[in-house]
This record gives sequence, C-alpha cells and structure tokens, in this order.
Amino acid sequence: MRLERLNLNINGVDRFVTCDPETDTLAEVLRRMGLTGVKIGCNAGVCGACSIILDGEVVRACTKKMKRVAESSSITTIEGIGTPQHLHPLQQAWITYGGAQCGFCSPGFIVSAYGLLQQNQSPTREDVRQWFKRHHNICRCTGYKPLVDAVMAAAEVMRGDKTMADITYDFEGETEIYGSRHPRPTALAKVTGLADFGDDVELQLPAGVAHLAIVLAEAHHADIISIDTSEAEAMPGVMGVLTGKDVKGTNSLPMQGPIQRQRGTGIRQFPVIADKKVCRRGDVVAVVAADTRQHAREAAKKVKQNLDVLPTYMTFPEAVMPTAVEIHPGIPNWYMEQPVFKGEDTAEIFEDAPFTAEGSFYTQHEPHLTIEPDTLQGYWGTDGMMTLQCKSHDFGETRDALSVACGIDRENIRMTLNASGAAFGYTVCPNTFALVVTAVQNLDMPCTFTLSYDEFKHVTGKRMATFSNGRIACDEEGMITAAEYDVALDHGAYGFVPIFLNLTSLGFHGYNIPNFKALGRGGSSNHNFNTSYRGFGSPQISTTTESLIDMAAEKAGIDPWEFRYKNAARPGDLTINQRPYLDYPYPKLLEMAKPTYDAYKAEAEARRAAGRHTGVGMSMGGFVVTIGMFDSAEVALELNPDGTITHYNTWEDLGQGGDIGTLTHTVKALEPLGIKPSQVKLVMNDSKTCPDTGLAAASRSHYVAGLATIHAAGQLMDAMRKEDGSYRTHAEMVAAGIPTKYVGHHDQFNMGLDPGLDPNTGQGNRVPAFMYGLNLALVEVDVTTGKTNVLRFTWVGDVGVVGNMLSVEGQGYGGLSHSIGFALSENYDAQDKHGTMIGCGIPQIDAIPDDMNLIFLETPRPLGPHGSSGCSEVFQSCNHMAVINAINNACGVRVFALPATPDKVKAGWEAKQRGEDLTPPKYFLGSDFEEELEWIKVNPV
Ligand code: FES
Ligand code: FES
Repeated sequence: MRLERLNLNINGVDRFVTCDPETDTLAEVLRRMGLTGVKIGCNAGVCGACSIILDGEVVRACTKKMKRVAESSSITTIEGIGTPQHLHPLQQAWITYGGAQCGFCSPGFIVSAYGLLQQNQSPTREDVRQWFKRHHNICRCTGYKPLVDAVMAAAEVMRGDKTMADITYDFEGETEIYGSRHPRPTALAKVTGLADFGDDVELQLPAGVAHLAIVLAEAHHADIISIDTSEAEAMPGVMGVLTGKDVKGTNSLPMQGPIQRQRGTGIRQFPVIADKKVCRRGDVVAVVAADTRQHAREAAKKVKQNLDVLPTYMTFPEAVMPTAVEIHPGIPNWYMEQPVFKGEDTAEIFEDAPFTAEGSFYTQHEPHLTIEPDTLQGYWGTDGMMTLQCKSHDFGETRDALSVACGIDRENIRMTLNASGAAFGYTVCPNTFALVVTAVQNLDMPCTFTLSYDEFKHVTGKRMATFSNGRIACDEEGMITAAEYDVALDHGAYGFVPIFLNLTSLGFHGYNIPNFKALGRGGSSNHNFNTSYRGFGSPQISTTTESLIDMAAEKAGIDPWEFRYKNAARPGDLTINQRPYLDYPYPKLLEMAKPTYDAYKAEAEARRAAGRHTGVGMSMGGFVVTIGMFDSAEVALELNPDGTITHYNTWEDLGQGGDIGTLTHTVKALEPLGIKPSQVKLVMNDSKTCPDTGLAAASRSHYVAGLATIHAAGQLMDAMRKEDGSYRTHAEMVAAGIPTKYVGHHDQFNMGLDPGLDPNTGQGNRVPAFMYGLNLALVEVDVTTGKTNVLRFTWVGDVGVVGNMLSVEGQGYGGLSHSIGFALSENYDAQDKHGTMIGCGIPQIDAIPDDMNLIFLETPRPLGPHGSSGCSEVFQSCNHMAVINAINNACGVRVFALPATPDKVKAGWEAKQRGEDLTPPKYFLGSDFEEELEWIKVNPV
C-alpha cells in the first residue's frame, strides 16, 4: 500500500490528511478523522447521507476517491456548519420543524441545504425540492415536507426576515407539554452530527476487535452438501470462519406463533447459519471474522458452497401447486388458515344482488429501505454479560430468541441501543444479532458488524406479499349486502405470524358489512422471510377491500365518497369479527374530508378539461393499538436528590420519538408536582438498567408506556405526599425511609380481550383501542409513459388526543410517503437489483407531494393515557389505496397487482384502448374457497 499526505482545509482549519489515494474515499477519510457526521448509508452515491461541501460544491463523499481530491481543497462537513452551542439556522430549523426523526440523513440534508443557501437565500419550495433531488438527498422517515419547511424557515433567518428566536421552540413559554410541538431531546445531537450510530461506534472501539462479513446462499432453495471454508481461513487477517456447527444453541430462531388452525407443527426452523438447507437467497451459510472489514469481506468471497439446488417457488401460488415439494420437509407449504363468518351465507345474496364487483389482487414484498444499513456490536462486558449495541424494536423477545438459538442465558444478555437510523419494523427479527452473538462466543473477543447495503437488503426480512380473490355486493341504493375474500399470506422462507390475524380482521375496517365470509391462508415460499413493517397486514388486505369498495361504487353509479358515507359503520354496527367498533368516527371523518374531496374533484375536472389524465382517489380504514391480551409494559420513575426525576424505560426509539414521548408522559403524569421538562432525565434502552417496556411495534409504545408512566407517577406522588397535601423532598423521603423509585406497570391480560380470533368463526375482540383514517389523493397519469404523479394528499383521521404534535405529524408524513411508495414503486423480489435503494423503488423527494395535509379529529380514548391512542400505523394502513383508486379515476386503469409501476399502468391503458378486460384471472390458493370453508365448518378445532 502506498500512502499520500494531503493538505486540506477542513471546516476552516488547514489539516494534513494521510490516505491511500487509490482505495480511500473522502467519506472514509473524514470519518477516520472523527468527522462522523459524514454518514455512510448506501455507499454508492444514491442517498446523500455522506454529503459534504468540496470547494463550494455539494458532493457525495462516498463516491469521491481521494486521488480525485486536490491538494489545498476546502471541505465543509456538518461539524463545520454549527455546534450545539452555536447552531446554524438550518440546524435550529431542523429541530423545530421535526426534520430529524432517526436523524441518520440529517447531516447530509443540512449540508446540502447549506450549499443551496450559499447560492440562493430566497429559494422557493420547489427550488428546495429540486435541489434535494439533484443532490440525491433521500430521507425515509419524514416524507420530506418538514425538511422543506425547515429550509424555508432557515432562509428567512439568513435573509434577516426572522431571528433565530423566531424559529426556536419557546420552552419558557410552554404552559402545557401534552399536545405541544416540543422538539425531541435527541434532535440536537442528530442535527450537529454528534449522534453516534452503529458505524460511528465501530470507529470508537479499542483495537483488537473482530470485523464480521457474511456469506449468503448462492441459490434460493437447495440442500447444502458442504461449505468449504479452507481458502477463506487462509486469507489475510482472518480470525475465524464460522458455519452452522459453531452456533452454540439450537441454531434456530424461535418463530412467533403458532395460530390455532395449523397443518402439522408449523415452521420451527429459522437457522442462524444455514447448515442443512437454504430456503432463500438471504440465508447466511458462513460468517467470516477478520482484523478489518475489508479483510473479512475479501475472505468471505473465498467460501465455497456445494449445493444441491431444489425447485424454487418464489410465490405462494407456485408453492401450493400439487406438484410442489415441501420447502420445510414434513410441513405443507400452505399450513395456516383462519376463517371468518358473519351473518347469513353470502352465496345467495350474491346471486340476487343488483350490483356486484370482484377481482384478484397482489401486494408485493415491501422493503423497509432505511438509509442506514443494519449495524451492531457485541462483546462480553466487564460484568460478564453478552452485551449488544444495536438497533432493535424488541429487547425482550430478542433476548428470548438469542437465548434459545445461541445457547446463552437470557439474563446474561444485555441489550442497548445505538443511535439508530430507523427500522420501521425489520429488527423485530434478530437474525443479524444471532450472528454477532455466535461470533463473540466463538472468538471470545468483541465483534462489530456493518452490513453492506446489498447484504442488508437480502438478509433482513420484508413486508410479506399477499394474493387474494374477493367480491362485494350491494343493493340498488348502494348499501353493501355482502362481501367475501380469500387471502393468502406468502411469508417467504420463514414466518413471523402475528400479522396473519390482521388479514382477517382489518379488511373493510370502518364499514358495516352485514354478511361476510373470508378465509385467511398462510405459508411458505422461497422468497425472503416476512418480518414486521409499519401497518403489518393492513396495507395488504386494504388493497383487496378498498379496491372492491371503489369497484362496487362504480358499478352502482355512486360517487366513492357517497358510497363510503352510506356504508360507514355507525353505532350498533359490528366489525367483520362481530364485535362493536370501539369508536364510530368514520361518518364524521368523511364529513371533515368533504371540502377537500370536492376541491380535489374540481381541480381534477379542470385539468381533464385541459386534456390531462387527473383523478381523485380515496380510501378508508384503521389499525389496531397494542398486541392485545398478552401485552404488558413497565417503566420506572425515580426522584433524585436535586428534585429532578429520572425516567427509565426500554421504549426502543429508532426515530419514532420515544424520547419525546417519554418526556411528555413524565411531565404530564407528574403535573401535580410541577415538574418541568428540563427536570426530567431519560435513561432509556439499556435492558440492564431499565424495566422491560416491551416491543416498539403495533402502535403500542405511546399507549402502554404512557399508562405505565401514569401508574409509576401515581405511586411516586402517593409516596411523596404529606398529610397536608404538599410533597416531600428527596431528603425527607430518605429520612423517612420511603423508597424514591417506583416501577409502573400496565397489563392487558384481565381487560376482557380475546387472545386472538376464534379459529372456527373468526370472532374476536383483540385490542383495547383503534386508530381511524381517511385518505384523499389527487394524481395525474401520463398515459404515454404510465407514470403517476401524486399532486396532493390529505389524511383526515382520529388517533385520540395527540401527545406531541410534531412527532405525530412526523409519523404521518413519513407513513404517507411509504404508502405512496408502496402504491407506485417499492418492491423487493430477491433479485440483484433489489440490493439497492433505487432498485427497490425508494421514493425520492419528487415522488412525494409537497402538498400533504393532516387533519386531526381528537376523540379522547377512555382507556388511553391522557385520552391518547397510538398513531404510527394508521398512516401506513389503507393509505396507498387512495393513490391506486385515483389512478383508476384518472385514466380508467385499475391496477390489481401492486406496485402501480409505469409499465403496468401503460399496459393497462393500452389494453383498455383495445377494449380488453383488465380483470386478472383468479388466483389458485391451494383449494376451493367455498369447499375449504365448508370443510372448516364441519371440522372445528
Ligand atoms: S450517497 Fe454516499 S452514503 Fe449514500
Ligand atoms: S430522518 Fe431521514 S432517514 Fe431518518
């Protein structure tokens, strides 16, 4: 290796830089110098996380080889733009306007915006959007709108039109934290580049750490004859090559489940390191440990796989054909089912119905597409505990799973969070954690693991695909009389099944369907395995039901808004699972949305008159809060000697806002003490020091952590309260021998909830709260290319009393941006191109409308903390269907198989011009729908 010494001016200071000009990138060199505000996400010039300013130009430093950086160049990184003590207006605006959720993209965006404002201090919103598009700045959390808001606000300060105080949250003037726009406490570190994400932590570790790289299966489905590691072991720097035999436990991650109607035992094998079979492309067959990441990756290429390739079934319909072999021998590929029956048998109703509509629908495997790839560290701590620094949604079940799969005492696993570049659900499955634990156990040394973006995409789970056939009937007045659907969940190679019951309970959410039957099926293919993703199950089944609603309205000649208003559930109406809705806000939400709907329609008509294909679409639906009967959470509050309060919990915060949620709940619950936000200390996300608050999923965290906080606060205040009603100080508590720390608990076991759905009827009351939403989209379709442009989007919904408006809006804009991506572009099919963000169809800023609006109806939830519900997943439930229905309204093309990519829309348009029927054939899902339901009726479990 030959090195070079360069003199560079970095953040205003002349510094010498020593580098390998041939292999080092500017991003790597700056990070080695400690400037870790330069983030590496894609490492391929796609995402802009590594943006810096080089000689006045915004540059993606990951693509800039050092040999192309000239002597005496001037470089500005986020660290040179502002500091915590002296924030730049952009950094302040990012905090105030909710620009930093996970914060991984924030430094790159701020640096990029700084470049813009150096050139133009009076940009329009469109100028800002085009700038971010041109400089490849991608954010997965915020939906972009808050970022443009922030740039516009900072520009005002830079022009002198406003002061820094004008764009800074007024902490002193805050009279009520609940419902406020109080910024999240972690934002300061994120906008200054000082938040330490996993890859940054790696740079801070002492010498003597093993770097890990993985070897992925070379086939989607194969028996493993042998894995030859000998050549890899001889490569430079290699410390060890691990295969399945090196996994200390069962070498199988426990599956979540089972459900009651299951053929055979259900799948029980999810290998940490595959040693007998590979069932998907992302199966890991070996792990290489070496002294550097580069050495580990080079050695991983030398591992040889001797595989006996088997037939491959990449879809559920292929996997359930009679000739298909069992992917997991002894377990049918279709092995789960759940029926739902409500009211009279639907067959006769359909025969006599004046209007019916039917169709077959496909929803794709959706990739989470965080900008940060998966990254974590593991080591034996000084306390003897296996310590993981990671990003995780679920400390508790991860420890359970690692204990079994890796043969380690659960109580000896310590989980902690690094600053985390979002996850949206994928870390519920701890498959990468198990690799690190195995490496630490075998090597007896600290290990660090950062996946390349390509590895990350193929190794981690995805939202699962569904295939469905459905139909709906209504009377002359447009009142729905019956509906049916048969839906199959394709969970890929391995299944995490809690999503399954959402398919048979969230369809037609918010409607009164008097007579209904459905069958949910689930099973295996050789696709990637399914894991959690925001809104799990709802986007899939809403594709079926919100298509059918619009198709029925069209058949009956009734406006889609009117059709929904007629059929919206009102008090006394029951869900498809024959339970009352917990609230009945849909008619009200429809009324609130009507002015916007009418305005969108008028605009669409005006554009159509000008020869454009513009349309309006809507969708309606809701989502569950908490995981139901078996949900519980604990937090702890402690009174400190100086009168401040410490809150301990494991509300895993990957950018959702666990920090501000915890702070808000604490201040609110301790209102009688007059505690201010500045008097609350957060100790979060360390399983050794914090009680188990449960997983950060199912829109449960704000709800259950809030209730547990109220419980803890009540105990603490009872203990502090004197007879005269005043409160003891810490010193007085200690003097009186009264404990100063209290654990608050929330448990849903005895609330009267059902554990799931009745396996014979589908009846069930599973959760204590729902969220409700209505979506309106205005789109334009270029029928010559098939490209759909979403012009405007409005969500009207009810998540109860809003706890922190800034973070709820953040979840809203972010969720809607994922929904638009799900509708139009996102897909993962385990192909080479799906190893990149662009290949997976991540929405860039020009794909997301700047005109996005959120309108809240705040119906207090009687059981929720301070009247709140959850929020996150209502923004990624049925929302995408407003876009799909709008495409149909714009050009008459109904897209039955998502995403609605330009090729599909164009083909549909052309087929329509030829007068062809666009309705796809029914899917074969393993058996006849009617016969299967009849069989279930006479074979109860
Ligand atoms: S563009 Fe450099 S990390 Fe993505
Ligand atoms: S805040 Fe932009 S990627 Fe998370």
